[in-house]
Amino acid sequence: MAVQTRPLPTDTGILSPENEQKRNELIEMLTVGYWMEVETVMSYIANSINPDGVRAREVVEHLETDIQEEIGHAQQFGARIKELYGVVPGSMDFNAQQTYLQPPESQTDIVHVIKGVIAAETNAIDHYNRIIAFCDGLDLVTQDMVIAIQRDEQQHRRLFEGFLREYEAEGRA
Ligand SMILES: [Fe+2]
Ligand SMILES: [Fe+2]
Repeated sequence: MAVQTRPLPTDTGILSPENEQKRNELIEMLTVGYWMEVETVMSYIANSINPDGVRAREVVEHLETDIQEEIGHAQQFGARIKELYGVVPGSMDFNAQQTYLQPPESQTDIVHVIKGVIAAETNAIDHYNRIIAFCDGLDLVTQDMVIAIQRDEQQHRRLFEGFLREYEAEGRA
C-alpha cells in the first residue's frame, strides 16, 4: 500500500506509532468501502438510464438521487483514507464485484434492478458493520463517519425492499 507520509510521533490513538498496523488494516477496509461506493455509482448510473416502462420511473428517480449520495460517500471514504495517512487508489486498482447489478436481458425487468440494489446495499451494510466494530475504542472519528453513512445505506435498502414487496404482493417477484 502506498503511504504518503506518517503521523507525528507525538500523536495518540489511531495515529500513534503503536497503532500503525491497525491503521493500515483500517485504511484497507476504508479502501474496500471506497471501491464499493465507486462501483455502486457506476451500476446506479446504468440502471437509472436503461429501464423501460411506466413503473420503472419511480425506481429510476430514486437511483438518480442515490447516485449523488454514493458519490458523497466515496468522497468521505477517500478523505478519511488521506487523514489516516493513506493514499486514495487510482482507477487501475479497481476490481468489479457487482455481478448482480449488470443490465438485465429485458429492460422492463425492473425486479432484477430492485433485487440488485438490495444486494449492493446489503453488501455495503455488512462491510460497514465490520468497520464500525473494528473502530470500537480505536478510532471514534472513522466510526462516527461510517455510522452516518450506514444510516444512508439502510434507508436506501429499506426503500427498495418496499418496492420489492409491491411486486411480490402481485406475484411478479
Ligand atoms: Fe453508499
Ligand atoms: Fe446506498
